[in-house]
Amino acid sequence: MAFPPEFLDEIRARVALAGVVGRRVKLTRRGREHVGLCPFHNEKTPSFTVSDDKGFFHCFGCGEHGDVISFVTRTEGLSFPEAVERLAGEAGLPMPRETPGARAAAHRRAGLIEVLEAVTVWFEAQLEARSGEAARAYLTGRGLRPETVIAFRLGFAPDRRGALREAMHAKGIDDDQLAEAGLIKRPEGGGSPRDYFFDRVIFPITDRRGRVIAFGGRAMGDSPAKYLNSPETPLFHKGHVLYNLARARQAAHDTSELIVAEGYMDVIGLAQAGFPAAVAPLGTALTEEQIAELWRLTNEPILCLDGDEAGRRAGYRAALRALPALRPGNSLRFAILPAGDDPDSLVRTQGSTAMRAVLDEARPLSDVLWLMATEGRRLDTPERQAGLIAALDEQVRMIADEAVRKAYREAINGRVRDEFGYGPWGFVARSGPRQRAGGRGKRWPDRHRRGAGTGRFGRDRGPRSAGLAVSGLGARQAPGLLRRRQEQVLLAALVNHPTLIAENAEELAHIELGSPDFCDFGRALVDLAARDQDLDTEALNRHLCVQGFSGLLRGLLQSDVYVHGRFARPDASPDEARNGVQDVLEGYRRRQAALEAEEAGRHLAEAMTDEALARLEAKQRLIRQGENRLDELDAQSEAVPEVSPRDPS
Ligand code: UTP
Ligand code: MN
Repeated sequence: MAFPPEFLDEIRARVALAGVVGRRVKLTRRGREHVGLCPFHNEKTPSFTVSDDKGFFHCFGCGEHGDVISFVTRTEGLSFPEAVERLAGEAGLPMPRETPGARAAAHRRAGLIEVLEAVTVWFEAQLEARSGEAARAYLTGRGLRPETVIAFRLGFAPDRRGALREAMHAKGIDDDQLAEAGLIKRPEGGGSPRDYFFDRVIFPITDRRGRVIAFGGRAMGDSPAKYLNSPETPLFHKGHVLYNLARARQAAHDTSELIVAEGYMDVIGLAQAGFPAAVAPLGTALTEEQIAELWRLTNEPILCLDGDEAGRRAGYRAALRALPALRPGNSLRFAILPAGDDPDSLVRTQGSTAMRAVLDEARPLSDVLWLMATEGRRLDTPERQAGLIAALDEQVRMIADEAVRKAYREAINGRVRDEFGYGPWGFVARSGPRQRAGGRGKRWPDRHRRGAGTGRFGRDRGPRSAGLAVSGLGARQAPGLLRRRQEQVLLAALVNHPTLIAENAEELAHIELGSPDFCDFGRALVDLAARDQDLDTEALNRHLCVQGFSGLLRGLLQSDVYVHGRFARPDASPDEARNGVQDVLEGYRRRQAALEAEEAGRHLAEAMTDEALARLEAKQRLIRQGENRLDELDAQSEAVPEVSPRDPS
């Protein structure tokens, strides 16, 4: 519901900001303002300022800025309407009235909430009752402590059909209400209604405010349906709800970490092991709504995936879902569990340290995209590589946000270049493999299975099924080979048509060749041609042999090389040779230009660290709010790249 602006203004006017902030931050008065240690970043000297007059807070350290409503949303993990409702209550303001239709619907939902609460209490009682003995034993057997069972309000739906209906009827709750709440089914051809859940352990599912809106039920023995969830009801839309969101919220806010597991037991096991900020979808893949909900709590939720094929596919699906909605700073990370474990079994068998290690190894979304695109793909020909690039590009195009899209494109370009060895070629020998900030692409980790450290493309040659085709030798060698062929053709042409060396000396001096021996050879060519303008092939050959290049020459001046470039042959016409060499050099020039453009883009991508982005966002917020404090902010934000993410220049 949209609130009338006057109503929001009234709240801002009536609630003293310093009072609300003062509950969380120790404030000291300084002139007309209050100052304290910023709750949004770590600091030792206070730069967090609260102005009751103006009704806003501002941190000169991190740029956080807002009014009383946004302070409550950001410090207590409440949504905007929830914060408004809370503050209106504090100010003694009645909430604005809704339309009669909306009010009636809200009334019905409120009624249903009461029904579900009554049912929850009854399920809890059944677990405590004698009939709940087997269920209690089941939960104990799964390692749940009594306080955990109570905290998650676990219950038991007994085996006795009709028990729930009877108990609810006694409380004045009728079958219509039970049916609407999804607790009974009316058989098609009439007859008395059946309980939806029976002989199951019950997991109440709450909304973001902690009110029970549905249930999950687990069969304790063999049952075709291990878990059963409430059907869709006016309160419960499976794709919008995350299990344990209400409890995880504050924890996520306090630790900035939010774990997304697959099931009820994972969430509960994690909470019991000291990871209270955990949620799970309800037996389906994460929906866009759920991802949006996660991002309301934290910038980079961590999805736990099984180490097996299915887990990987789930990760891919989530990655694709998230792409359109990515914003600067908002992403997903993926923690991959050892094969055969879920978070529940991991914390139970190996403790929270093992879980912590898995979380700390979480991979960024961009890694998962790369893995998804390269996995099982052979990348040993230019055509296949082009196919990969097209596939990646298709994914990147799904990103709606321009700045993020650009950053991804640059990152992927850089990675393609790293993997396939396209780089600036020059007569300068390379000291070693090129390294990019952020490292080479990592493979899907199989350290859990093999006990090794995380692998790298090219170095770690795991089995193909666990790794990627691109990590094998083939992919690396093929482009290297093509490149070497091209270099051979160029060098052979220069030896057979020495006038072309002097003609292109300037340009040749700046090209980087792929191997040290070629670099030495190229340098020798340029030197010799500079010393003797009229050098012919025979003299050149002699000099080169004296310098120890006879073996290399033999490899160059032969038909295997000439088939790749006829213009390199000794009997090619001078024009043919000249045009051929020009074509090759033109290729180098184009690649160089592309690389430079890419480099510029990657600087932006790399500068887009979380912190820089946070500052950038803070800056943009200020701009939007028309504040005139940019100068002060500027002085403190050297880390901000000097480009706006929306307008990279
Ligand atoms: P899993 O089959 O991975 O089970 O289901 P789990 O969470 O490890 O459960 P335990 O440890 O055997 O008790 C993951 C989630 O998928 C949904 C449930 O939400 C479950 O938590 N699910 C699973 C169903 O809805 N129905 C099913 O039959 C199975
Ligand atoms: Mn499990």
